[in-house]
Amino acid sequence: MVATVYADATTDNVNSAAAPYFESFQELRERFGHELMYLSFILLLLITYLVGKRHNEVLAKTTMAVMLPLFRSNFSRVGDNGAELAIDAPHEYIIYLTGRRHVATVHGLIKMKPRQDLIRTLLTFFSTPTPDTCTLNVTMNPDQYSDGVFAIVPKNTGTALRNKFYDLTTFTKASNQKVLDDSLITLTESSELTDAIMPLVGEHFNKAAKWLDYFIVSDQPSYNPDNLPTEPHPKRISLSFRLPNARNAREILPLVEALIACLDGLPQDCHVSTVIKSKIAKAREEAQKDIGKKAQLERAKELEEKRLREKREQEKHLSPEAQRKLAAKEEKKALRKRQKQVTKRG
Ligand SMILES: *[C@@H]1O[C@H](CO)[C@@H](O)[C@H](O)[C@H]1NC(C)=O
Ligand SMILES: *[C@@H]1O[C@H](CO)[C@@H](O)[C@H](O)[C@H]1NC(C)=O
Repeated sequence: MVATVYADATTDNVNSAAAPYFESFQELRERFGHELMYLSFILLLLITYLVGKRHNEVLAKTTMAVMLPLFRSNFSRVGDNGAELAIDAPHEYIIYLTGRRHVATVHGLIKMKPRQDLIRTLLTFFSTPTPDTCTLNVTMNPDQYSDGVFAIVPKNTGTALRNKFYDLTTFTKASNQKVLDDSLITLTESSELTDAIMPLVGEHFNKAAKWLDYFIVSDQPSYNPDNLPTEPHPKRISLSFRLPNARNAREILPLVEALIACLDGLPQDCHVSTVIKSKIAKAREEAQKDIGKKAQLERAKELEEKRLREKREQEKHLSPEAQRKLAAKEEKKALRKRQKQVTKRG
């Protein structure tokens, strides 16, 4: 196609200017081989960009259209600066919701395959392809329901997810639920939490189990904190699911309905007994101790490294004579240490 365009342009030129005339396509290709190759490559990049961008746009907008009635009827503000769905990159769209009882904010991201990017698309043939996903993270207002970590995840990815997220690793155990679809499993800190949350969401998740990546109710950070928190971590509900193609976009609706059901449902129903409450508090104290210990070790290591660095720096500034003396002294010290070890072993 490129070749024809090029050739036509050349023939047109013949009349207007004394442009070279080519006997055959063969000759043309020999003359402009590289240029043609570059040009077709650029054209391919461009076409991929336009088609891929359009595909992702349709998928993101259709998915949003499915969720929008729920969002509109439950939040007073959908989107930012007039746009309900904000584009961040041709394969990433941002959702922002606020203005609802019990809820601080909702941050969401529709993240799709980078279809607009030819190189990255080609590279995905050599790795496991990333699916199109939507994640909705709800930050709840503090102190409206019990602390605790609870999740519903697919059985086949459950272990990997439990290892990936700090709160799931530290606080939850896997447990089967009779009322849940066979492909799903819960990770929970306490059966009281499970009993409080399952009736709100179980039915919904069963209806769209195959699209669910994870559903997590948590009062703890998802990534291992380096330092002791200075204030309580906000309570959050995270929902992540894979996207069907645009034609079947409605299939994910039950998942979003489950999330919406939690917004009033948790503050209403999720209040565990005093015994479990103190058990949950105890688990957090233990976790804090671990974090504190680790932070301390980390700090000690840093100090030691700094000391060594400074020592090396000082040695650099010594005279050659002094450096030699120091090296000899260190060697002697090392020798004595070795001898001591030998005698000990003997
Ligand atoms: C949230 O949306 C659902 C579905 O539209 C609706 O039934 C429910 O009443 C809404 N909740 C509130 C608090 O508006
Ligand atoms: C939502 O929360 C999860 C878990 O903390 C995190 O991995 C993800 O990046 C968050 N996504 C958004 C859009 O905030």
